Amino acid sequence: MTGPLSTAQIREKYLQFFESKGHLRLPSYSTVAPDPTTLFTVAGMQPFKEQFMGAPAVFDGVANKRVTTAQKCLRIGDIENVGRTLRHCSLLEMLGNFSFGDYFKQESLTWAWEFLTSPEWLGLDRARLYVTIYEEDEEAFRIWTEVNGLPADHILRFGADENFWPADAPKEGPNGPCGPCSEIFYDRGPKYGDDSWADYAVTRESARFLEIWNNVFPQFDRQDPLPDGTPVLKDLPFKNIDTGMGLERIATVVQDVYDFYSNDVFAPIVAKVAEMSGQAYEGPQSVSHRVVAEHIRSVSMVIADGSVPSNTGRGYVVRKILRRACRHAYLLGLREPSLFKLVPIVAERMGDAYPELRENLAKIEATVRAEEESFLRTLEGGIQRLGKLMSGMEKGATLSGNDAFVLYDTYGFPVDLTKEIAEEYGISVDEAGYAESLENAQNLARAGSKYGKSELFGGNMEALDGLSPTVFVGYDDLQADGEVVALVGAGERLTHLSAGSEATVVLSRTPFYAEGGGEVGDTGRIEWDGGSAGKGWGIVRDTRKTPQGVFLHDVLVESGELKEGLSVRAVVSGERQAIQRHHTATHLLQSALRAVLGSGVQQKGSLVAADRLRFDFSHGAALSADEIAAVETLVSRWVSANFAVTWQEMPIADAKAAGATALFGEKYGETVRVVRVGGSVEYAGQTVSSMELCGGAHVTRTGDIGAFVI
Ligand code: SER
Repeated sequence: MTGPLSTAQIREKYLQFFESKGHLRLPSYSTVAPDPTTLFTVAGMQPFKEQFMGAPAVFDGVANKRVTTAQKCLRIGDIENVGRTLRHCSLLEMLGNFSFGDYFKQESLTWAWEFLTSPEWLGLDRARLYVTIYEEDEEAFRIWTEVNGLPADHILRFGADENFWPADAPKEGPNGPCGPCSEIFYDRGPKYGDDSWADYAVTRESARFLEIWNNVFPQFDRQDPLPDGTPVLKDLPFKNIDTGMGLERIATVVQDVYDFYSNDVFAPIVAKVAEMSGQAYEGPQSVSHRVVAEHIRSVSMVIADGSVPSNTGRGYVVRKILRRACRHAYLLGLREPSLFKLVPIVAERMGDAYPELRENLAKIEATVRAEEESFLRTLEGGIQRLGKLMSGMEKGATLSGNDAFVLYDTYGFPVDLTKEIAEEYGISVDEAGYAESLENAQNLARAGSKYGKSELFGGNMEALDGLSPTVFVGYDDLQADGEVVALVGAGERLTHLSAGSEATVVLSRTPFYAEGGGEVGDTGRIEWDGGSAGKGWGIVRDTRKTPQGVFLHDVLVESGELKEGLSVRAVVSGERQAIQRHHTATHLLQSALRAVLGSGVQQKGSLVAADRLRFDFSHGAALSADEIAAVETLVSRWVSANFAVTWQEMPIADAKAAGATALFGEKYGETVRVVRVGGSVEYAGQTVSSMELCGGAHVTRTGDIGAFVI
């Protein structure tokens, strides 16, 4: 066979090369991150953090300190740049080789050189390779020049902002494994720019010199800096290797195409977008072809891994990516669901390496299509509202920035579409005013989320106008019957919701606790007997409430049809018991901290979930091991005493007079709920008790908490 290597061939060669160097080949881990520090897997090394920290390198029973993978990664920090630049992608395949205390810098850099330049492997021109190294890394300099024979003027040195991974880790974190790195660049030649390698030292951006491979030397465990800001880097138990080569980029280089959208994976998707829309892939509109092609690849992969569009967490990201793609499809004139038709091409191009794309093809197509349908409805609603706003405006007039912002914020109608439609009527949009409204709203959201999220699902306040506050019965009952009073999807009131779709559901009565006071919203299910339409049920994935006390359930209908006016039975999941244990334990922890450290301890926030609790507080110094042990012992004494826990509503003045603990800076109403533990424990001559203002859910006896460990 002639012609350049395909993306699949490059991936395979890479894995084979490292197998030939004694590495164990592992399949890609899921895009769902293996640890809670990120929503999605962002780097090939992420599934191996524990091995870097010293855990045994044993994978499915096979021990090997050398591993190689092609890992699917999702990076969404730069999503606004995807399609606009030719380098950014939200889904990237990272080819990586890893050493857990086995080989180090010498092997890593010489093997990288061999793989890139040997005719047996990629056979790239040595003269076109350039590298950066960490400014103090003489060892890397020596290996590059003396062993690999790279000319010294092909090497640039940078500080930790460029040549450390994670970037700037010593100063900025995160805590955990990190180390200096050496990045390899390929000079794509003057047709991509007339800058030189020396220029890169200043610009640090180049279309010509493309970074293809990062070789990281994780040898430190970054810890919290000293109070004066001095970074703390502890040696890891051993030195490791973590490398990452972007497959999209190396394919661009090997295939000598202008950008990754022209490589063998993307080109057919881009061509299909052009065919469906009848819009050629050229000029300014080509941004839209690229956004659609890139995003459909990402969402197909994350849906194959089990994420679905929703308004929270990972699902929110999926929705955001998909809606950005929908918007660009719309800009290309596609007025019917069309993105789902691209999924088979993604599965065909990438399905050999990621069989989950083929196995879940029907599900991915259906999910994408449903989201497209709902987004197109939103767009239509927005277009009507915009029409009303513009009626009566003269040609040459300006639509206020705040109107454009309300269209976006309340109805999900994107500002670039507002601009485009307004332009057709000769009306312009006050962009500065829009930016100002957006910033004001962001500042408000930030202020409001200091102690956790407080934004509504989807921000669709108007659709909830006129609803009465929900009757909450969930302190006592975990099941309750209620009536569906509203269904809201993408800012619109809906009359019904069919199986497979998701929306915000408002009930007349509910046992579901709405996220608040650090406690997570309840999950569970609702069931109904829909009469002639038959029985149905749906999953409640999260619960929040508006400042007016309307409870919002994020519901995915699994079977049947949910309608306004239906009677449903709402059933809270068993996780609530665990949440209650953690909530009562949070109160005991607060009292214990104040007893051991002094009443200067100020609560700054908390998280009460089913699997853990987190308590944020201010105190001038880190806790010593003895203090931590004292706090644990104190809480455990309450637990073993098995005191009753009771709650009661009372006027705020009475609660304060009785000495109930309140969160500083928090606003309380006239009547408050006070949660009290019915007995106290002794600590160093003090009597320690627990009484707090709290709207959360608690166990009825402290013994229900079980074990308490910090
Ligand atoms: N962890 C490094 C990166 O993501 C190299 O794999 O760039």
